Amino acid sequence: MYRFDREAYEKRVAWFRQARLGMFIHWGLYALPARGEWVRSNERMPLEDYQRYFDAFTAPDCDPRQWAQAAKAAGMRYMVFTAKHHDGFCLFDSKLTDYTSVHTPCHRDFVAEYVTAAREAGLKVGLYYSLLDWHHPDYPHFGDRYHPMRDDPRYSNENRDFSRYLDYLHGQVRELCTNYGKIDLMWFDFSYDNPDFPMRAETWRGGELVSMVRTLQPDILIDNRLEVSGEGGFGSLWTGDPGPCHGDFACPEQLIPPEGIRDRQGRDMVWEACITMNNNWGYTRDDGYFKPADMVIRKLVECVSKGGNLLLNVGPDGRGRIPRQSLEVLEKLGAWMAVNGESVYGCGKAELPKPEFGRFTRKGNRLYCHIYENSIGPLPILGIREEDVAEMRLLSTYAQVPIARSWVRSNYPDLVFADLGPDPVLPDPVDTVLEITLRR
Ligand code: GLC
Repeated sequence: MYRFDREAYEKRVAWFRQARLGMFIHWGLYALPARGEWVRSNERMPLEDYQRYFDAFTAPDCDPRQWAQAAKAAGMRYMVFTAKHHDGFCLFDSKLTDYTSVHTPCHRDFVAEYVTAAREAGLKVGLYYSLLDWHHPDYPHFGDRYHPMRDDPRYSNENRDFSRYLDYLHGQVRELCTNYGKIDLMWFDFSYDNPDFPMRAETWRGGELVSMVRTLQPDILIDNRLEVSGEGGFGSLWTGDPGPCHGDFACPEQLIPPEGIRDRQGRDMVWEACITMNNNWGYTRDDGYFKPADMVIRKLVECVSKGGNLLLNVGPDGRGRIPRQSLEVLEKLGAWMAVNGESVYGCGKAELPKPEFGRFTRKGNRLYCHIYENSIGPLPILGIREEDVAEMRLLSTYAQVPIARSWVRSNYPDLVFADLGPDPVLPDPVDTVLEITLRR
């Protein structure tokens, strides 16, 4: 059985801490109704009514290479792809069911294509696997908290054998961990409470599941949703006494934790905020509420400044294309990352108070000032002293930035001011990054 070991843990999370930015991809049959990945549950849709999307799943424009290229160009270092979502539809060639993309009209194993594409692009490979399954006959239906047929007594659970579902779940995870080469990250989703049948780590035979995954893929990272669900705390890693199902990182959803996440002992935890670009994970025709690229850039910086990662979602449409609005955001993010990536990769908390002008990130003796708002006159950088400053430059051009000597700052002899020049408009109005090399 798997046992926690802090040294091994620190080693396996090292790449993840470096990466800071990843792409989440939610895609499946639900892209066709185009009302989000919860469509069956939200609309209490019976399986038979969902079948039309299976029969129409041709995905003519799906090219995982393009997804991977878009991610890479945006500065992302890893991807997480929904191998199976709650609807139970599998995007891989599973020997345990015919409810897979291989049996739809397109006859493709998208996990295989995705894994190859991600590796070719030099990205780490993550798979999302839903613990919930609204297709499997042995998964609780009536009375479950989320199942599409939860309110319909005709779907009673009398002849359902949950242990059969567990064999299936374990078997599929074994397939994913065996048939596709090295998998860097497994994103299980999620445990929850049913009134008389709580879906917890033990319910999924979580200890056994984790042991199998870690045996088949010794370096893999696992999220913490076997134990928790984005609600209900941060799991046993947080307590300082990690159980067999502990996650390697916390995964707050649609929220950036106000001050980062520390465990009970006050140690910084590894975390990743998963965030949609609009308001849905799966492709949604009527959701045009996309976050502007400027906002996404600053939110990435916010995550890093608090010691975490951003997993930014795209929901390819029914043809398999990433929506145009998402591609535009990714392009702008990529342009910014291309010159400012050093202030993101491998960076974390600066352990300085949040500055008025924006945010700090830090990596070793490099302090990055993310300037969103210019000052009148020279820019004060609170928390450091002049004798600590070896060099200052703009990250985007490496242009030297002098320490300001103007008389206007003379009443503050102990503060360091940067001289950003005569232009009141910042070179990059979204986030101008000033790199300060500290002597210690
Ligand atoms: C959720 C949702 C889901 C989504 C996921 C991403 O808990 O159930 O649809 O895939 O979180 O974080």
